[in-house]
Amino acid sequence: MQKRLLPVVALVATVCVAARAGVPDFPLDFRPTSAVLNAFESAVAHRRADSLVGKMTLDEKLQFIHSQYVMSAVPGGGAGYIQGVPRLGIPDLNMVDSSTGSGSTSQPSTTFPATIALAASWDRGLSSDFGKQIALELRAQGFGMGLGGGTNLAREPRGGRLFEYLGEDPVLAGEMLAERTDGTQSQKVIATIKHYAGNEQEHGRSGGNSQIDERTLRELYLLPFEIAARRAQPGSVMCSYNRLNGDYACENSHLLNDVLKNDWRFEGQVQSDWGAAHSTAKAINAGLDEEEDVGATVYLTPAAVKQAIANGSVSTARLDDMVKRKLYVMIRTGVMDHPAKAGGTIDFARANVFAQSAAEQSMVLLKNDNNQLPLSAGSLSRIAVIGAHADAAVLTGGGSGNTRDPVTGSFAGCGGLTFGTTSGCSWWSNPWLKLDTPIVAAVRALAPSAQVSFAGNSDQQSPFRAYTQQEIDEAAALASHSDVAIVVVAQPAGEDIGDLQSLSLANPSNQDALVDAVARANPRTIVVVESGNPVLMPWKDRVSAIVEAWYPGEGGGKAIANVLFGKVNPSGKLPVTFPLHDQDTPTWGQNGAFETDPVYSEQLNMGYRWYDAKNIAPMFEFGYGLSYTHFSYSGLSVAHRPDGALDVSFTVRNDGRRAGAEVPQVYLGVPYNGEPPRRLVGWEKIGMNPGETRRVRITVTPRMQSVWDTSRNGWRYVPGGTVYVGASSRDIRLQGS
Ligand code: BGC
Repeated sequence: MQKRLLPVVALVATVCVAARAGVPDFPLDFRPTSAVLNAFESAVAHRRADSLVGKMTLDEKLQFIHSQYVMSAVPGGGAGYIQGVPRLGIPDLNMVDSSTGSGSTSQPSTTFPATIALAASWDRGLSSDFGKQIALELRAQGFGMGLGGGTNLAREPRGGRLFEYLGEDPVLAGEMLAERTDGTQSQKVIATIKHYAGNEQEHGRSGGNSQIDERTLRELYLLPFEIAARRAQPGSVMCSYNRLNGDYACENSHLLNDVLKNDWRFEGQVQSDWGAAHSTAKAINAGLDEEEDVGATVYLTPAAVKQAIANGSVSTARLDDMVKRKLYVMIRTGVMDHPAKAGGTIDFARANVFAQSAAEQSMVLLKNDNNQLPLSAGSLSRIAVIGAHADAAVLTGGGSGNTRDPVTGSFAGCGGLTFGTTSGCSWWSNPWLKLDTPIVAAVRALAPSAQVSFAGNSDQQSPFRAYTQQEIDEAAALASHSDVAIVVVAQPAGEDIGDLQSLSLANPSNQDALVDAVARANPRTIVVVESGNPVLMPWKDRVSAIVEAWYPGEGGGKAIANVLFGKVNPSGKLPVTFPLHDQDTPTWGQNGAFETDPVYSEQLNMGYRWYDAKNIAPMFEFGYGLSYTHFSYSGLSVAHRPDGALDVSFTVRNDGRRAGAEVPQVYLGVPYNGEPPRRLVGWEKIGMNPGETRRVRITVTPRMQSVWDTSRNGWRYVPGGTVYVGASSRDIRLQGS
């Protein structure tokens, strides 16, 4: 009990320091997660780090602020490592990507669902477990640091790395990231959150200048980082490739010093993205603590930093601060005293079960006309499964957010796509571990007496090519002789291959024609989508059911079959708006051309806020997702607390016939110039049996009711907002003020 109270005491102390005169900082809104140290433990870690810094030589310090990266030389197939100082008991620190699982290039790893799927679960506990599961594998492979905490917002729905992020809402993304960070660090693995900040697109990837006004930054793009940094204290924040309002993110003093280290009191380290440092003294003085390089340009080398110290452009105190931050993080997370050792045992079978369960909890049922789903195996004698290599594997995202297959590299080659990085090759999940079951096999297992047939492109050398007319005709013929047709469509995306040109199912370009042909042949057509981005569905009204499965990881085949056959009642909700047309999105402009130096001129009207403010009907709105049961909402009460918080409570009832989980969402309309009609301020995910009733209580803290007041350079509490409770951002069931 004592232990849980102490962080609050620490935070109260922080408020007194951080609050500018008359401008409360509201840090008490950010409840610490469970792996965060209490004030006493933290003070002990600080003292120990200071003492170690005092014992290190200049050369030892200089080697500690720069990672070594030669792919073949990084131990364990990681992305970089920091050499330790054995004489002082400081171990080496190996780091690796970990967005969807370990990115080791030489060790087997589990492929978990993409993090956009995790966001779609809206399940905080699942996010914590996700961080924990991946950390278990990282430690067993010898990694003490995981780089997987991506949380740039889905401003650009075509963004090539959207699958690595957590959707378009800063509170959803921040809360999920805090939980994931906590899960990772609870296993003695340092968590990195990234890419800080304004890195919402791949176009102009290296050095494009994102132009974002301060209020928009604070209320949207910095907020997920703030929530995670304050609540879970990640060991590291990775500054991004782009420039922000003129300066490169990794030498942007406002971003790193003013906001992160000063306003948020961040005590961890800032590491550069790989090759994102552009200077020595400027970057160090702006707050960069460690450079990760790709072997080409290096600014924080021992020679360069020594010279900067010699000519007075960098102080020794600042060098000590850089080193101390890393030591402090290593001590605080347990990495110092319990370094990860390679050669540990990984329980792959158990991890596979978790991967499948995470996928099941994240799938979103988008349409279900006349309860076509769930399928009943007993009533089906012929089932057609069509497209997207559903006979072989599921799609994953490419680049550093992928979990690579170190042995074969991929599903028989890279399918004719050209990748900018070698890591982009393994798009189909984990053939090495062979734990994944393709959709066709998983459907067969659930409908053993039915004849399950596959049609589509079986060309494994060219998995993304367009369907030939003959393949489309064969698929339609198969569908016409089947009781149900399950069409799988897939939209590839990945790092360093650019953003998508359009949200239409572009690769292969005629997947829409395939769906149309099958839907014409069989009125009972069900579409399963594997994507990391929203997709356009011109055929939406011609098919009977649609399931968004995201990039579901190695348990994806079974998870999809379980949802289709009702072994799992879908409970995911969209973390990103699915528009009707590309032209409806906030970044399309006149012709969909990407800006190299994007101006975030829509300001706070991003994501669902854009559609609400402009009165544009989306195809499926943020927060939307159906279930095989039904939930009713009633009895809203909004009580005002003396501290300005709102206690929102309401009743949810499962009034259908199946057990299921609902995600009631609380939105607030803040009566202040420039605010969107509604913004998400809270939610719960609750599992309920048929007939069960739950009273849900959600606290809307003063900070969640605040706006960033540029004239005061601080938060302004705006009382009097309208409270909306709904099953999505548009399916509002209750309203109060
Ligand atoms: C990516 C980072 C990643 C790093 C190391 C960069 O290209 O932007 O997200 O962590 O590579 O692999």
